[in-house]
Amino acid sequence: MQGAVNSQLSQDRFQINRLVPDRIITSMSDDVRSGLSARVKILPPKYFYDERGSRLFDLICQTPEYYLTRTEAALLSEHAADIIASSRPTAIVEFGSGTADKTELLIDQAGQQRDALHYLPFDVCKEMLVESGQRLNERYPWLQIEAWHGDFTHGLTHFVNSHDRTLYTFLGSSLGNFTPPEAAAFLTDIRAEMTGDDYFLLGVDLVKSSEVLNAAYNDNEGYTAAFNLNLLNVLNRELNATFNTGHFRHHARFNEQASRMEMHLVSCCDHSVDVRDLQLNVSFEADEHLTTEYSHKYTRDGIGNLLESAGFAPSRYYIDDDSRFMLALATCA
Ligand code: SAH
Ligand code: TRP
Repeated sequence: MQGAVNSQLSQDRFQINRLVPDRIITSMSDDVRSGLSARVKILPPKYFYDERGSRLFDLICQTPEYYLTRTEAALLSEHAADIIASSRPTAIVEFGSGTADKTELLIDQAGQQRDALHYLPFDVCKEMLVESGQRLNERYPWLQIEAWHGDFTHGLTHFVNSHDRTLYTFLGSSLGNFTPPEAAAFLTDIRAEMTGDDYFLLGVDLVKSSEVLNAAYNDNEGYTAAFNLNLLNVLNRELNATFNTGHFRHHARFNEQASRMEMHLVSCCDHSVDVRDLQLNVSFEADEHLTTEYSHKYTRDGIGNLLESAGFAPSRYYIDDDSRFMLALATCA
């Protein structure tokens, strides 16, 4: 009986909305056809995050080499009180929420200052929304969760947040996975959601030595390699393709000129792959690179300029002692 009452209660405090895209969107079929037909082959990174991909990403975050998550978590625990005291949120919106582990540091702090809080996690991976939602739901009886399932690159016109004094968050250096024009466009989309009392908290990775960067994306356990290769499993399942993951290897390298990590899958031999649902046959030469993701690395001033161009007024920068990672807090300009 107790269980039934509890699950009833949690349902009252946990709902999932499906985001309706604003624009005509490209399907996975369109994206894969154009990406694999291009002279330099490329696949969009959002398809990394099926259930297995999301779990592998979580394992990457726990490796000693991947300093990003630990450093951002340390910054959040050190500065959560300051961030919450400045923004005094009644709601926290999070784009690309994933496990929401780090967000708990903000939720905890916000909960100490009020007896109710709304949390609006937004992710393309529904399993993650449900799992993290259930955990937060049990842990924080005063938290109302309004989850959004969808693709945040498809526009936010139909995303509804009815709460004042919202703290919008975009953590984990996910901004870096966009191209520079996409990053500028997404910041403008977020800014358009905000009104006078709202705040924006952005977590970004900073430029540093290529040794540290290359190690972070080539962990010894091989989770990053498995995560990268899992993209091919997603295509096999979703589009009936015949990728053999044994014919590719993970490759990640810092491109200093472009200030970004570049993730590739490199074909080990001459071979071809059928993407049966698209009636597409794709040839790979030995050593041919298929680009899967970029992860841009920033400077403090670069982020300041990006935020200002999108209509934000940066108010605080929080940087760790080794200048590895940065949280930027901003209001509307
Ligand atoms: N914020 C978490 C997770 C980062 S991983 C952290 O800092 O650890 C990136 C997250 O964004 C994943 O959970 C992934 O499912 C989600 N994501 C990636 N592309 C997306 C898109 N286009 N729309 C919505 N969510 C996306
Ligand atoms: N947002 C993460 C980052 O840029 C995503 C990521 C981590 C990633 N490791 C990866 C993407 C390996 C592709 C391959 O750090």
